[in-house]
Order: sequence, then C-alpha cells, then structure tokens
Amino acid sequence: MHTLITGASSGLGTIFADRFARRGHDLILVARRTDRLEALATRLSSGYGIDVQVIGQDLAREGAPEALMTEIERRGLEVDVLVNNAGFATIRPVKDSTPGTLEKQVQLNCVTPVGLAARVLPAMRERGRGTIINIASTGAYQPIPDMAVYAASKSLVLSFSEALWYEEKKHGIRVLAACPGPMNTEFFDNAEATGLALPMQSPDHLVDTTLKKLDGSAPSFIDGFANTVLAKVIIPRAPKKLVLKVAHRIALG
Ligand SMILES: NC(=O)c1ccc[n+]([C@@H]2O[C@H](COP(=O)([O-])OP(=O)(O)OC[C@H]3O[C@@H](n4cnc5c(N)ncnc54)[C@H](OP(=O)(O)O)[C@@H]3O)[C@@H](O)[C@H]2O)c1
Repeated sequence: MHTLITGASSGLGTIFADRFARRGHDLILVARRTDRLEALATRLSSGYGIDVQVIGQDLAREGAPEALMTEIERRGLEVDVLVNNAGFATIRPVKDSTPGTLEKQVQLNCVTPVGLAARVLPAMRERGRGTIINIASTGAYQPIPDMAVYAASKSLVLSFSEALWYEEKKHGIRVLAACPGPMNTEFFDNAEATGLALPMQSPDHLVDTTLKKLDGSAPSFIDGFANTVLAKVIIPRAPKKLVLKVAHRIALG
C-alpha cells in the first residue's frame, strides 16, 4: 500500500512526504520537477527503509488523473492514502490573464483532485479503508478579486471534500479538507506576488495539524483561530461588497 502525494517537490507536499515516511508509509511522489523528487526519494527511502516511487507528470494537463493512475497500475501499486496537494495561483485580473493559465488552474486545482479521488475510491471501498486529504484554502470561503479562479477553485475543493466525506464516512474512508491561510512556501513566488505583507503561517504546522485532524471526525478544518473567525463569523455576516473590497486589497498586497 502506498501514499500518493501530488506536488511533493516543494512546500506542503515535501513536508507531507516526510511525515508519512516517518510513519513508515511507502510513497508515490508526483510533480514536474523530478530532480527534486528523486533527491527526496533517496533521502526518505534510505532514512526510513520505505519504498518511494517517483512519477514526473504535469498534472495540469487534460487527462492527467487517468494517465497517473495508469502509470501507478503499471507499476503494480495500490493507493491507500491520497494527498491531493498540487496547486497554484495567479494574482492578476481575469482580463490581464492568459486564458490557458486560468484553465490550467481549474485543471490542476479541481479536475485532477476530483479525478484522482474518483479513481482511488473503488479500491478503497473494496478494502473498507482509505484516506483522502484535499488541500483547499481559506480562499474557499470568499471570492477574491485578482485571484478569482484560484478562490473559486478552492471553493470547489472544499465543497467536494465535505460532500465526499458524507458519502464515504460509513465505508471506512476518511476524507478531510485542510484550509490553510497564507504560508511560507514557493506558492507566492510562483504566483508572481509582489509586496505582499500578509502574516504567514508555517507549512509544517499545517501538515502536523492535518495529520492530527485525521484522528477526529470533522470533514474540514481552517488553520488558525483568526482565519476561523474571519471565515466562519465575519465573512458570512459582512456585506458582500465589503468582503470583495477587503479580499481585493489583501490579494494586491
Ligand atoms: N502557500 C500558501 O499560502 C497556501 C495557502 C492556502 C492553500 N495552499 C495550497 O497548498 C497546496 C500546496 O502549495 P504550496 O504552498 O506547498 O506551494 P508550492 O511550494 O508552490 O508547491 C506546489 C507544488 O505543486 C506542484 N505543481 C504545481 N504545478 C504542477 C503541475 N502542473 N503538475 C504537477 N505538479 C504541480 C509543484 O511541483 P512542480 O513545480 O515540480 O511540478 C509543487 O510541488 C496548493 O494546493 C495550494 O493551493 C497554499
């Protein structure tokens, strides 16, 4: 049995790989930068005596979930834990964006996690156990001008995860969505963000909290007290125009 982690070449994905390796899980690491994945695989397999498989794949391509599962089956591997982590954002108005880049965000952040979950579920159902972790975001809780597609993509991840949690809870399959706020990873560099002065959370804290939350029964969680109050108390009550204005200011930095 293997734990499949998408986006394992940096940030949260690398930390998830480390934590699952410590727990003795065999791993399948997926991303585009295979040099990083190979180095991580060497470190984790020799450090923890586990099997680590590396698959270099662009998960923003159409048909990516099918192609990835075909490769996993070709290698004779089974997925017991799925961590849908790979994702990216762009910070600019829709009119200034390349349509293809917006489409890739939907593909990577939404289509691929949904497609992978749907493909690993039947075998998990047969075994009567399995875990699916989906990385959403506090961005799931409100629209964000200049990050319109990203915030919408994370709303899908959150909504999908919570419904899937309900569908699978009686079948031994644990589904959990994590909603982190801004964290120190390569995420904002890749989004070409400039001048952001947001308080950053620790990606290690997010991963460790996610693993603790797996022992509970909640379908999702928001990382941090302030983020939770904002998302659950303030945003639902505030006028939408104000929410949009404040979210826009934050996205602009
Ligand atoms: N950091 C934040 O502030 C923050 C906040 C809330 C939610 N999140 C979410 O947390 C998750 C992890 O992000 P992170 O913060 O760890 O960012 P990161 O350091 O930029 O890592 C992103 C990972 O996704 C992979 N990836 C990107 N495009 C890919 C593609 N086309 N095909 C395959 N893999 C791809 C990257 O690998 P390659 O480039 O090697 O392919 C990398 O391993 C994402 O879903 C993100 O939306 C992040």
